[in-house]
Amino acid sequence: MVICIDGPAGAGKGTVAKALAARFGWHYLDTGKLYRRLARLVLDHLAQATDDSSEGTKNEGTPRPVVTLDSQAVDAIAPMLPALCKRIAQQLATHDPQATQATQATQGTHDQSSGESASASLSLDGEEIGAVASTLAADPRVRTALLAMQQDFVAQRRQHGVVLDGRDTGTVICPDATLKVFLTASAEARARRRYEQNLANNIDCDYTATLIAIQRRDILDANRSVAPLKPACDAQHLDSTSMSEAEVLAVIMTWIDRAMPTSPTQITF
Ligand code: DC
Repeated sequence: MVICIDGPAGAGKGTVAKALAARFGWHYLDTGKLYRRLARLVLDHLAQATDDSSEGTKNEGTPRPVVTLDSQAVDAIAPMLPALCKRIAQQLATHDPQATQATQATQGTHDQSSGESASASLSLDGEEIGAVASTLAADPRVRTALLAMQQDFVAQRRQHGVVLDGRDTGTVICPDATLKVFLTASAEARARRRYEQNLANNIDCDYTATLIAIQRRDILDANRSVAPLKPACDAQHLDSTSMSEAEVLAVIMTWIDRAMPTSPTQITF
């Protein structure tokens, strides 16, 4: 069985998907994290390339600038995609609460950039990495490179149960999912949640800047030519603007009960 939780940035997909996976002991894949991890690797690769080309002339005391991506930069990293995706695939087990402790211990959490990489100061969950991820995600070469990894994850685990979290999970990654949920909320509500989440995690944040970034990302994600942000035609829609997390979960649980041949509450692992 596969449950897809799709929707725009900040709608609460991750919270809901993780809660469902934990509730039923199912596997969980945060597909946005794959794009974010790729964004970080790409920023580090481009910063390294810039460093190498300015060797001998660089000023040691100057902070390394954050690289922003344009289409030329995406073209430049295209040949590197298979190698970068291989690294992400090696990290994939750590997304998965069902992964063994031994695997997690060997691979580390990888949620923080290791060592002194150029992107080390950027939070993996922050809007800067999100914006770079969104730019990368609009490129068909990037989507193709990450697609097989996501489909393999599902194929290997669907017997046990999988919750997929992300934009194209119900439309592209797993069109035959048991249940597809399209979770939305107003841009203001989503920005407010992100803002509060960042403050709780001690991440420097400004509400208005977060709102603008979320609105920009909505436009970019909804208007790209490949796998744009849009509900699957058979998705259940849920607007969580005025709902608590518990209320959202309660509604989705009733949908799961209805969609499953056997209620998951009757399954023992
Ligand atoms: O869900 P998120 O904010 O972590 O995702 C970051 C970006 O990655 C998002 O703006 C678009 C892209 N993305 C995607 O295109 N397809 C997915 N399945 C997940 C994320």
